[in-house]
Amino acid sequence: MSNEILGEALPFDEKIVLKSWAHRNVSEQEYLEYHRKSVENFKESWESVAKELEWFTPWEKVMEETQNKNVYKWFVGGTTNISYLSLDRHVKTWRRHKVAYIWEGEPVDDQGRPKEVRKYTYYDLWREVNRVAYAMKTKLGLKKGDRIAIYLPMIPELPIVMLAAARLGVIFTVIFSGFTAENIASRVNDLNATLIFTADGVYRRGKILKLKEIVDQSLNLTPSVKRVIVVRRLGGEVQLGQRDVLLEELLRDVPSNAYVEPERMESNETLYVLYTSGTTGKPKGMIHDHGGYATLLHATMKWVFDARDDDVYFCTADIGWVTGHSYIVFGPLIEGLTSILYEGTLDTPAPDRWWSIVERYGVTILYTSPTGVRTLMKFGEDYVKKHDLSTLRVIHSVGEPINPSAWRWLFQVVGNGRAPVGSTWWMTETGGIMISHLPGLMLVPMKPGTNGYPLPGVEADVLDESGNPVRPGERGYLVLKNPWPGMPAAPTGIWGDHERYVKTYWSKYPGLFYAGDYAVKDKDGYIWVAGRADEVMKVSGHRIGTYELESVLVSHRAVSEAAVIGVPDQVKGEVPIAYVVLKVGNQPSEEMRKELMDWIRNNYGPIGLPKALFFVTKLPKTRSGKIMRRLIRSVATNSPLGDITSLEDVGSVDEVKQAYDEFVKSIK
Ligand code: WTA
Repeated sequence: MSNEILGEALPFDEKIVLKSWAHRNVSEQEYLEYHRKSVENFKESWESVAKELEWFTPWEKVMEETQNKNVYKWFVGGTTNISYLSLDRHVKTWRRHKVAYIWEGEPVDDQGRPKEVRKYTYYDLWREVNRVAYAMKTKLGLKKGDRIAIYLPMIPELPIVMLAAARLGVIFTVIFSGFTAENIASRVNDLNATLIFTADGVYRRGKILKLKEIVDQSLNLTPSVKRVIVVRRLGGEVQLGQRDVLLEELLRDVPSNAYVEPERMESNETLYVLYTSGTTGKPKGMIHDHGGYATLLHATMKWVFDARDDDVYFCTADIGWVTGHSYIVFGPLIEGLTSILYEGTLDTPAPDRWWSIVERYGVTILYTSPTGVRTLMKFGEDYVKKHDLSTLRVIHSVGEPINPSAWRWLFQVVGNGRAPVGSTWWMTETGGIMISHLPGLMLVPMKPGTNGYPLPGVEADVLDESGNPVRPGERGYLVLKNPWPGMPAAPTGIWGDHERYVKTYWSKYPGLFYAGDYAVKDKDGYIWVAGRADEVMKVSGHRIGTYELESVLVSHRAVSEAAVIGVPDQVKGEVPIAYVVLKVGNQPSEEMRKELMDWIRNNYGPIGLPKALFFVTKLPKTRSGKIMRRLIRSVATNSPLGDITSLEDVGSVDEVKQAYDEFVKSIK
């Protein structure tokens, strides 16, 4: 568990220097010296990045703490609008007719070619965003500060609606299109959103997923929602209720040259709220702003991705998660890049879909996930070799630790040993990348699986329980030591819950941002994030609280108690397994197991499905009644049980163990 990722030892001493990257290669000392200076003057460092963007009015102060503790404002008093930065700024230049997005739908013809491809230039995108903003403003009466939810799949209308809302200062929350009605409702209710954008459906893995029906189910639980705007993706008839209207209807008489002046947003005013799972309770709505967030994205697009005007950029994430917000929508658009938007899954129709996209459009920058890589590795190299990937020049992964063999595969098989490959560490909370190799700035020797050094201006460390830095090679907790632009924003960091914000991130080590991750720092100072240190799982890179799945399970009529833990998985990184105690009068059976699995699928979504679900008569608990997940995890990972003196009933561990052993036997 200590110095390994998925059972592979961390190669602390392996250093790879790319000859082809000689123009950026530096030694560790050179970077550390540069970094030291940037951190000493971190405000000035970030200020110089912010100056590269366009502001309607300049800021009066670079940074200040607000009256709400640990909430910081950046570029105070400066005004801008991220929709202006993403669109108008380019439309004024030669980039006006540069392609912003190439969208590819999932379905293919019998030659394996995509049936639908749509291209948007910056001018096209700007026009569409203005038309949607115009309709939002004049027909739906939306204005700055109003809140909406967006439950759209990977179609161009998703970024268009996000940018239109941003333009008006309308606060939006995007809800991942794999989530269920309950997930929609809890987010909509927390934000008190009055309107939902959705689609009739989407193509996923060759099937149709009817999103509008899921929204309809959620509407019984969301009294605040007055209107539902439906994008027609599938093309057929859409059943419309009283509050529903088709986006195309709404836009029908909006002039093609409609223009909406972008709202002058004070740098710290809210752009969006994105919900993410924590240890307990409902998902937290992390707030991000316009100015600081745009600054961080601009910096990281340059330093991490080496973004240039001749690049074609492909991020394989879903816009429903933070990676897509920052690195499919706002980051690449701020840089004026051409990027790929792909609707579907990586193996439809075959496990070379991503590689065919790289070849078709000459992708130069690839941003992907360890789970994606491990999935494709299983299918062998032939699927990669079939395609010309020689255009690739920078590759990064994100979302979970990347095991060294997956890193090597990206480096050698996909990148052919020519492209730098990195693992960018960050979180929904940080808004953008914090720890990463920086091939666009200075490239230190790479090591397979490491995150590398913190970015300029970012100070990170690995601490023990009492707050002292751990020795090189030892595991501790990752912290960030300075505020940064793009951090959870004013007024409260977490939407409506400042207290929770302080408690979750700033209390374990007062004054430092606690990420909730285990990490190791090696003797060169490279950071290797090794996984979550709390009750949060990363399942295929998706962030899921064990508590959320337990809540879903105990809401079933037959369930009395449930414990969910994450266990390592060679493809998905981590998967949930569940232990369930049934209420008296219910018997464990295959039918019951299936019923509970369906219950999770329908009430949380397929991404939360446990790999195994066991019935037990009791769970290991402390005398005060707390479930001892640590013990359950030890059983499932075959590691020593450790201290069990507070355990109430030793027999409960035996039962958990027996259930697990039987499961292992059954899958062998
Ligand atoms: C994990 C995703 C190791 C980590 C952008 C973090 C990583 C959580 C990496 C945030 C990486 C993300 N190496 N671990 N390169 N990137 N993580 O909010 O545990 O979905 O705390 O944001 O993902 O997940 P989130």
